[in-house]
Parts: sequence; C-alpha cells; structure tokens
Amino acid sequence: MSVVARARQSARFCGAVKDAGISHSFPGEAGLKKGGRSAETNGSLSAPHKEMLLIDRLIDLSTRPVPLRALALRKILQKVPIGSYWARLRAAAVERPWYGWCLYHAAVEAKALGHRAMTAIEFGVAGGAGLLCLCRHRDQVERAIGIEILVHGFDTGTGLPNSEDPRDLLYVWPPGSFEMNIQTLKERIRGKAELTLGDIAQTVPAWRGRRDAPIGAIMFDLDLYTSTRDALAILTSASTLPRVWCYFDDISGYPVNAYSDFTGVREAIRQFNLDPRRDIRQQHLSRAYTFGGMAPENWHASCYIYHRLQHPDYNRRLSKERHQLILS
Ligand SMILES: C[S@@+](CC[C@H](N)C(=O)[O-])C[C@H]1O[C@@H](n2cnc3c(N)ncnc32)[C@H](O)[C@@H]1O
Repeated sequence: MSVVARARQSARFCGAVKDAGISHSFPGEAGLKKGGRSAETNGSLSAPHKEMLLIDRLIDLSTRPVPLRALALRKILQKVPIGSYWARLRAAAVERPWYGWCLYHAAVEAKALGHRAMTAIEFGVAGGAGLLCLCRHRDQVERAIGIEILVHGFDTGTGLPNSEDPRDLLYVWPPGSFEMNIQTLKERIRGKAELTLGDIAQTVPAWRGRRDAPIGAIMFDLDLYTSTRDALAILTSASTLPRVWCYFDDISGYPVNAYSDFTGVREAIRQFNLDPRRDIRQQHLSRAYTFGGMAPENWHASCYIYHRLQHPDYNRRLSKERHQLILS
C-alpha cells in the first residue's frame, strides 16, 4: 500500500476511533495519526491498530490510568446519556471530551459577558468526523447554556499541503494526506456548519465572521507547524472573546511522531507567544489549568487558553458571586 493510501486509511480509522470516544488516550496508538497504526503491536508501522490481538487489547485496557469501570461507564453514558451534559463532560463520558470542554467553557464565558451568539472553529476538517462531533456538542451546549453557537470549519479540501519546512514533521505527514470528499461532507453539514475551503494562509486573513458572534473556541487539527502558525493569526485578526478556549490535537503523540518543543504545533504556539509585534504579557496562549478535581488525562495538556488582556471585557467579572472564606 502506498504511503498516501496508508495515510488515507489511517484518516478513516482515526475518525472511527475518535467517534468511539476512545481517541487520544489510547496507549497502543501510534503511527501517522492517532489510532492510525500501532508500532507497538509488532514493531511495524504498517500494522493497523484494529488488528491488535485480543490479549494485547486486554492488557492495554486493564492497565490504563483510568480504571476499567470508569471506561465502561463512559461508554454506557455515551449510549444512554442520563444526567446533565456538564456532569457527563466532567466524567469525560462524551465523544471527544476535549471538544466539549473548550466549547462549554467558551459558551459560559460568552453568556456571562452578555453575548447572544459565539463562533466555534475547527481548523483541519479532513473527512468531517471532528466537525460533525463539534456540531453535536454545539447542540448540547446551546441547550445547557442558552446561547447560539455558529460552527465553522477550515480545510484545503485536498489534504495536507506540500511543505519543505522540517518543522512540519515531513517524516510523518505525506502531502495530500486526509483528502476530503467535499460533496459528501457538504451534504452532511448542510444547515449545521459552514466550511471554508482553501489554504489557511489565504482563507484566514480574508475570513469575516458574523459580527455579533465573537470566536470563543477553536479546535486546531492541522498537523503542520506552518499551517498552525497561519491559523493562529485568526486570534489577532478576528473578533474574539477576551479568552478563547483552544484545543491543539498535535501537542503530543506516539513514538513515530517524535514531537518536540521546537517543531510542529508546539513550535507554532511558541512562535505566536514570542512574536515581537505583541507583548506576551498582553496576549498569549497558555496551557489551560482548568481541571481541578479531575483525574489527569492526556487531553488536558492539549487544552490552551488564548488571553487578550487588553480586550475591553477582559476584566469584567463573569459572576456576581462574592468569594468568602468563613471561619467555622
Ligand atoms: C488530521 S486532519 C483533520 C482531522 C479532523 N479534525 C478530524 O478529527 O476528523 C488535518 C487536516 O488539516 C488540513 N490542513 C493542513 N494544513 C492546511 C492548510 N494550510 N490549509 C487548510 N487546511 C489544512 C488537511 O487538509 C487535513 O484535512
């Protein structure tokens, strides 16, 4: 199988694994993309993860940091969604909890600041599994918070662009990977989300969102340093909430990805923060330290918040509640 064909198969499988709600924290995952192939099953990059032996799956499942009963309960709650959306989100009993986490907290912020609408973006849409997942979260968050959320996706439509920049991890990502079926996707998202096709280097500067719906949440899944760098420009060119909840899919991965602090998505974030046109104390991306009371999971490290301290609403209190520490 050619490398491109493998990447395509990997992309399809990536969607399936993510939809099953087990992406990101799957220890056996490795290869071109999460869930794509397991280098650990037989030492080969070409062994699809789904061909993992039953015994290996059992070892994998029973030795995860999250107890098996919690994993099982999450699965059940996804099928039978009882309780509030918030409770299921905190329990990570929803598909792609990282999408829900960013969206929910952005909506809380937007609502508290008096907005009737906000925008959520996915950069890197590929087959569309992520965009549709974001739409499903949107439906639940809209109901829970009482705010309109516009969903917008950006992609070339033709897969990963060519690059010669070694910071793009050329040893992992063949150009053309993750090509989309534009017609099918457009039909699936009709009435639910907007899609902008083209290279982000051109589409982001030209993009104008709805004036009354500032950007509150962004899911970055572009794989490449250069593409993520170009996408980050939206934080300073478009109307945003004072804090924007961001998820970066490619912050960490498996051995074959060999991610570093100075390549890929981490380098794009680092460069954004070091840009001499801005003062890092006034505008920056920081890890989101927002998981108090929750058991640590891999995806927490992929959640960031963009802070724009000079935003006119930055200091507006989100709640009227006073904090008290009463001596009992
Ligand atoms: C890993 S896939 C996205 C997967 C998707 N988020 C999901 O969860 O199903 C990465 C996507 O980023 C897109 N992409 C990368 N660089 C881009 C650029 N410069 N402009 C537009 N799209 C780009 C590719 O076309 C590809 O579809």
